[in-house]
Amino acid sequence: MAEQKEKFYITTPIYYTNGLPHIGHTYTTVVADVLRRYKKMRGYDVVMTTGTDEHGVNVERAAKNAGIPESEFVARMADTWRALWDELGLTADEFVRTTDLQHVRTVQWLFRLCKENGYVYKGHYTGQYCIYDNAYVNDAKPGDPCPDCGRPTETVTEENYFFKLSAFQKPLLDFYRKYPEFIQPETRKNEIISFVEGGLKDLSITRTTVRWGIPVPGEEPHVFYVWFDALTAYLSAVGGPDYEKRGMWPADVHLVGKDIIRFHTVYWPAFLMAAMLPLPKQVWAHGWFLMDAAKMSKSKGNVVLPRPIANMLGMDALRYFLLREVVFGQDGNFSYDALVTRYNADLANGLGNLASRTAAMLEKNFAGKVPKPGTRLPQDDALAKEAQGAIGEVLERYDKLEFARALETIWSVIAAADKYLTTEQPWALGNSPEEESRKATILWTTAELLRIVTALAHPVLPDSTAKVWKLLGQNAAIGATPLDGLHWGQLAPDVTLGKFQALFPRVEKTETIERIEAMANEELNPTPAAPASKPAAPAASSGAAGALAAGPAEKIGIEDFTKVEMRVGQVKTAERIVGADKLLKLTVDIGSEVRQICAGIAQYYEPESLIGRKVVVVVNLAPRKLRGVESNGMIVAASVGPEGRPVLAGFHEDVEVGARLK
Ligand code: MSP
Repeated sequence: MAEQKEKFYITTPIYYTNGLPHIGHTYTTVVADVLRRYKKMRGYDVVMTTGTDEHGVNVERAAKNAGIPESEFVARMADTWRALWDELGLTADEFVRTTDLQHVRTVQWLFRLCKENGYVYKGHYTGQYCIYDNAYVNDAKPGDPCPDCGRPTETVTEENYFFKLSAFQKPLLDFYRKYPEFIQPETRKNEIISFVEGGLKDLSITRTTVRWGIPVPGEEPHVFYVWFDALTAYLSAVGGPDYEKRGMWPADVHLVGKDIIRFHTVYWPAFLMAAMLPLPKQVWAHGWFLMDAAKMSKSKGNVVLPRPIANMLGMDALRYFLLREVVFGQDGNFSYDALVTRYNADLANGLGNLASRTAAMLEKNFAGKVPKPGTRLPQDDALAKEAQGAIGEVLERYDKLEFARALETIWSVIAAADKYLTTEQPWALGNSPEEESRKATILWTTAELLRIVTALAHPVLPDSTAKVWKLLGQNAAIGATPLDGLHWGQLAPDVTLGKFQALFPRVEKTETIERIEAMANEELNPTPAAPASKPAAPAASSGAAGALAAGPAEKIGIEDFTKVEMRVGQVKTAERIVGADKLLKLTVDIGSEVRQICAGIAQYYEPESLIGRKVVVVVNLAPRKLRGVESNGMIVAASVGPEGRPVLAGFHEDVEVGARLK
C-alpha cells in the first residue's frame, strides 16, 4: 500500500486588487513557491494558495474611476495577478478570489458559527478609519493620519456587528505560550504578546457604509468588514465548510508581511477559536523590501516591477536575489545595482561557471560521459565530506525558513569546488593511465558535487537547476528528487551527459540596469498607440534614445496629436549621472517652470555644450525615475543611423521659451 504522505499547507496573503503586483508582493509569493517546491522534495503532499482580496471601499472607488462595475473591475485585476504569477512560474495550487461563491459561503458560515457560540453582537461604532489599509485606527482623533500609510483617516459612525475579541485575551496568550513556534520570527512574537497583554477591544466585523462586500445573510445592508472576509480565504481555498474532506486545514504556515501580522496572529486565531475550528500552526512575518529607504508604493513612484527583471536576467535570478540578499524576517533595501552584482558574482561566476567548466571538461576528456572515479586522495574525501555535510545543514536552514543561510551554505560548497579545481588542475594532467585515472576522480568528484548543489538549490532556482540536472544525465524530474535520500556517491559512472545550455550569461551592469528601467517605465506608463515594448517616437529621454527603425506608423487623428504637449525649452544645467553612462541630468526652463529631465544622450553630447541650447520638450509625459533620478518630461531627438544616434531637435530662428509646438 502506498504510504500516506504528510500534508503541508502554505498560504500567501491574498492581494488587494486596487493595485498591481510589485516586487514586495512577488517576494511573499516567491517564498511560498520555494517552500512549496522544497516541501515536495521532502515528500509532503503540498498545497499552496494565493489569491485576490476584492472587496472594500478602495475597489468601489477604483471601479468608479475606471467607469466599470466592481465585478468587472475585480475580474480583470484578478486575471492580471493570476497571469503574472503564471508568467513568473509561481505555481499556486489554489487561487482564491473573495468574490468566489465558495468563499462567500465560507465567510457566512464562519460568522454563523461565531454568532451561535455567543461571540458576535450588534452595536454602534464611531471611529477613525483608514480606507487605504481597510482598518480602523484605534485611539485616533478626527483628522489624524493613518499610522501605517500616513494618509488622512475618515470618521465613521455606523451600526456594526461586533466580534468579542476582548474574550480572547487569555486564550490567545495561553495559545502563544503553548505553541511558541506559532509567531515567527521571535521579535514579532514579543511585539504581539505585549499588544495582547495591553488588552483587546471588541472588533467591528461588519459595515453598513460599504456596498461592495459579502452580505451578512438576512442583515442587509451589513456587509463583512474586510479582515473577517479576507482571512477566511485561507479556509475557503481548501474546502470551506467542508474543509475536513480536503484534509489540508489547518494551514502549516501563513506567510505574511510584517504589516499584517496582527490580523493574522490575533484576529484570525480568535475568529477560529470562537468558531471552534482548528488553528493554523504558524504565521511567519517577513520584512519589507524598501526602495530609497521607503516602502514601495505607486503614489511615491518607487515601485520595482518583477517582469522587467525576469525578462532581462531570468526569474531564477530574481528569486535568488530576493532570498539571498536579505535575511528572511528583516527589512532590506532593493537596488538594481546589488541585483546585477549578485547575478554576475554568484550566478554567472558561481553556479553557472562551475556547471559550464564541468561540462566542458567532461566533454573533452570523457566524450560527454560521467567517468568512473579511481583511487581517492584525501583532498577528494575532504570535498566529499564538505558536500555531504552541507546537505543536512541546508535542509535544516530551509526548514527554519533561513533562506539566505541555506544559499550561503550551498554557495560555500560551490566555492570549495572552484578551489579544488584550481588546486588539482585536471586540465594539466597528461594521458598516462595514472593521470587519466586521477582526472576521472577529479571530474567525477566535481560532477557529483554539482549534482548535490543542484538538487539543494532547486527550490530557489527551479529553471536553471533543471537544466544542470539534465546536463548531468539525470532523467527523473529534479523537482521529484527526494531530498531525504540525497547523499554523496549516487552519481553513476558511464551516464551520458545531456546538452549544455547556458545558464547565466554575464551581463554588463549599466546597460542591464538601463534596460530594466526602460522596460519598467514602459510597463508603468505605456506609450500610447505603440506596442508595449517599443517607444513610439524618436526621443532622447529614458535612455532609449529612440533607436528604433521607423516602420509605417498607424494613422492618428489630430485629436491624438494634440494630446502630446510639446514646448520650447532652454537647458539651464546639464550633468552626468554617476553609474549611468548614457544618461544626462538636465534642468530645462519650459516657460512656466524649470523641469528636471533625464536624457539618454550622454554618449553623444558633452553636458557643457547643451547649456543655453533650445530644445523641444514633451511636457505632459508622466514623470518617471531613471537610475533613481526623477525625469519629468522628454526631450525630442531624431534617431540617426543604425545605432540610433540621438540628434536633438532645434530651431534655426530664435523662439520664445515656453512656445507650444503645433
Ligand atoms: N489584502 C491584504 C492581505 C489579506 S490576507 C488575508 C493585503 N494585501 S496587500 O496587497 O497590500 O499586501 C500583501 C502582502 O504584500 C503583505 O504581506 C505585504 O506586507 C506585502 N508587501 C507589500 N509591499 C511590500 C514590500 N515592499 N516588501 C515586502 N512585502 C510587502 O495586505
